[in-house]
Amino acid sequence: MSEVWDGVYQSDNTFFGEEPSSFATLCLNHMKSNNVKKVLEIGAGHGRDTLFFASNGLEVEALDYSSIGIEIINKKAHENKLPVNSQLYDVKKPLPFKDACFDAAYSHMLLNMRFSQAELHSVFSEIRRVLRPNGLNYFSVRNHNDQFYGAGVKVEDGVYDINGFEVRFFSEKEILDLIAKEGFNMLWIREEYEEPVTLYLVAAIKLKKN
Ligand SMILES: C[S@@+](CC[C@H](N)C(=O)[O-])C[C@H]1O[C@@H](n2cnc3c(N)ncnc32)[C@H](O)[C@@H]1O
Repeated sequence: MSEVWDGVYQSDNTFFGEEPSSFATLCLNHMKSNNVKKVLEIGAGHGRDTLFFASNGLEVEALDYSSIGIEIINKKAHENKLPVNSQLYDVKKPLPFKDACFDAAYSHMLLNMRFSQAELHSVFSEIRRVLRPNGLNYFSVRNHNDQFYGAGVKVEDGVYDINGFEVRFFSEKEILDLIAKEGFNMLWIREEYEEPVTLYLVAAIKLKKN
């Protein structure tokens, strides 16, 4: 699937726009009031949110499995002298960082891509590992109110092929179960329409192990 995203960014290196997402703006405010300095962004795309966080004083590590996306981020970060490290990386593998080295993790519309239930649990478990105690996990995923939910070809329960993209649509309960099982507490969840998709925006905090 990384070729699909390479093709998207090759034909349009600002596919998601040059402005940050409103989710990133919301999270930046929350990060600032929670003393976040170092952020891991997974599925960073061409970096609209990565560059926004970095230009607002955060140190950002960005991962994506699209080499074109990573090239675009590197070029823009270099041109603007921003504190961004980005790497080509498939986040289905264990994250390439030591334990407890980030204040926050962030992903926008990544975890609704084709991840099996086992892969989702493993990504959350890896995020938890690399977050400091009380570290924050911000993520957005498409939900059951999305206009494309149930459209396209069904791949498995909750997952549909929409024009060549395999997308998982989440219920609120699925999110709550996933984060609780992987050692996070929900701070907030809200719904937002980001043309053309409907998302849950979530902030969760790393719990201490029992
Ligand atoms: C819907 S796009 C969102 C991009 C970016 N977060 C934004 O909102 O502008 C999803 C991104 O996740 C990346 N991605 C999907 N699966 C991935 C994986 N297993 N490992 C790393 N990146 C992945 C894709 O390459 C794509 O850039």
